[in-house]
Amino acid sequence: MNQFTSVNDVAQIDQLVDDALALKKSPYAHQDLGKNKTLGLVFLNPSLRTRLSTQKAALNLGMSVMVMNMDKEGWALETQDGVVMNGTTVEHIREAAAVMGQYCDILGLRSFPKLQNRDEDYNEDFFNKFIEFCKVPVVSLESATRHPLQSLADLVTIRETWTGAGKPKVVLAWAPHIKALPQAVPNSFAEWMCQAQAEGMLHFTIAQPEGYELSEDFTPGATITHNLDEALTGADYIYVKNWSSYQDYGKVLPFPEGWMLTNAHLEPTNDAKVMHCLPVRRDLELSSEILDGPNSLVIHEAGNRLWAAQAVLKNILEKLV
Ligand code: CP
Repeated sequence: MNQFTSVNDVAQIDQLVDDALALKKSPYAHQDLGKNKTLGLVFLNPSLRTRLSTQKAALNLGMSVMVMNMDKEGWALETQDGVVMNGTTVEHIREAAAVMGQYCDILGLRSFPKLQNRDEDYNEDFFNKFIEFCKVPVVSLESATRHPLQSLADLVTIRETWTGAGKPKVVLAWAPHIKALPQAVPNSFAEWMCQAQAEGMLHFTIAQPEGYELSEDFTPGATITHNLDEALTGADYIYVKNWSSYQDYGKVLPFPEGWMLTNAHLEPTNDAKVMHCLPVRRDLELSSEILDGPNSLVIHEAGNRLWAAQAVLKNILEKLV
């Protein structure tokens, strides 16, 4: 693996899941792999899980880690070419990324969308320029449109906990929120689940109110409905997540009552396990009774972020040495 920005960078997702589960059993089996190698983590937005799990994953592999909170501690970056930098930006991404590539063997980058201009966000201009100019392998810590480390951890969690016969029914269920959130997590989850479905690992359904349909680029083969109860019937896993509208880009649209998951929603399911990437707003996005109840997998899922990150770093390190 030369970079990790989407499911398209992975040759075999089932093999990567196997790698993550093997690392969970033997976290320190590859400590020599990262010796004298440095991971740089560059954040333009806040993070708890991604920051800590990726640092810990690198330490388990014997790497050194440096963290740069670019939004608070770095120079204001210019990303456009051909501009006279006589405004607020201090350093061009051409130099900033190139310099970070001089200090690090692998770089991780988190950069959220602005949710103002769909084309601008979905072009992934900042991410692509960073990759071009740093000249070392890049791991996405969440971009404008995707969060692949989260999605890999989600697939690991489903594989690890599924004990039923046949293929599990996995449902991505939209949830309410007061803020306009990116589509990165649901896009990425859908992309990974569609790939897993294509490889015969599971059945995948998406439920969202009208106007919240994701880009079709991320949902090939998914069953898509506006009827939450219909989607939840026979569900084995429910992945709860809010996102803002893709069509009416970045907007919070009106939606009907009943989209916040409660225990009553679990009745037509196959005693479904409930997942969420976190952070979650209790009793707005997901009910406390679910989060604190026996069906919640959210802490287990967050724990698996470590093994997902370690599997990705291990795969990249193996290509470096
Ligand atoms: N799920 C996730 O990426 O969490 P953080 O934003 O805290 O890293």
